[in-house]
Amino acid sequence: MSLFKKKSKIKFKKFESSIEASEYVAIEVLNEVKKGKKINLGLATGSTPILLYNALVSDYEETRTPWKNVSTYNLDEYLNLPEGHPQTYKEFMKKHLFSHIDINLDNTHFPKVNENYDSLIQLNGGIDIQILGIGTNGHIGFNEPGSLLKSITRVVDLTQETIDVNAKQFFAGNKDLVPKQAISMGLESILNAKKIYLLAFGYSKNEAMEKLYHAEKFDVNFPASALLQHNDVTVVFDNGTELDI
Ligand code: PGA
Repeated sequence: MSLFKKKSKIKFKKFESSIEASEYVAIEVLNEVKKGKKINLGLATGSTPILLYNALVSDYEETRTPWKNVSTYNLDEYLNLPEGHPQTYKEFMKKHLFSHIDINLDNTHFPKVNENYDSLIQLNGGIDIQILGIGTNGHIGFNEPGSLLKSITRVVDLTQETIDVNAKQFFAGNKDLVPKQAISMGLESILNAKKIYLLAFGYSKNEAMEKLYHAEKFDVNFPASALLQHNDVTVVFDNGTELDI
């Protein structure tokens, strides 16, 4: 038995499977989309949110709920991949979500160098719901260990751990093909969202989840601990993770 009592306001929800967890978040997102009002979603890429995007696409196929009033702001984008490269996050989003729903592509945004992404987001009303994954090293977006709580959208160097994980998952194991830099929303940018869902699936996230569950204050070496500063964070995870709550 752990003697440690969780002190943070972060809500943790454990599901039988990653599909169930993703469907839970999909319903939360769709509840807002179906109101038909203007809404801004902050979106993540990687293997984790694919099931969530599948659930959103299934709903669109069944209900034809319009996405015309939805704007999206992705967390990050690789630098130095040519436009249209299949591993850019723009292409990822088209493949897994945007090409399957009636969203206006002009309303989908990705951070770019020499553009004030944070101001753009705030001028457009701020992010209503932010979706996050978590890296094995605790990164959120590409805010690697060492990222400051005050960080905003900026160019970042990827750690070797992140390059190795992404090479395996998305570049057929070839580390040389993974860009070494990206542009990422910062921790402060993420904390400006009104509501945050972090998804974590499988045993590879076990250690990061244990750390997040037991975190008491911001630790610059564990960027996800920034979420302790926010009032409305829900972490959904599956039983691939050993964490018992
Ligand atoms: P993953 O990445 O979903 O591919 O595990 C998550 C992340 O690095 O944020």
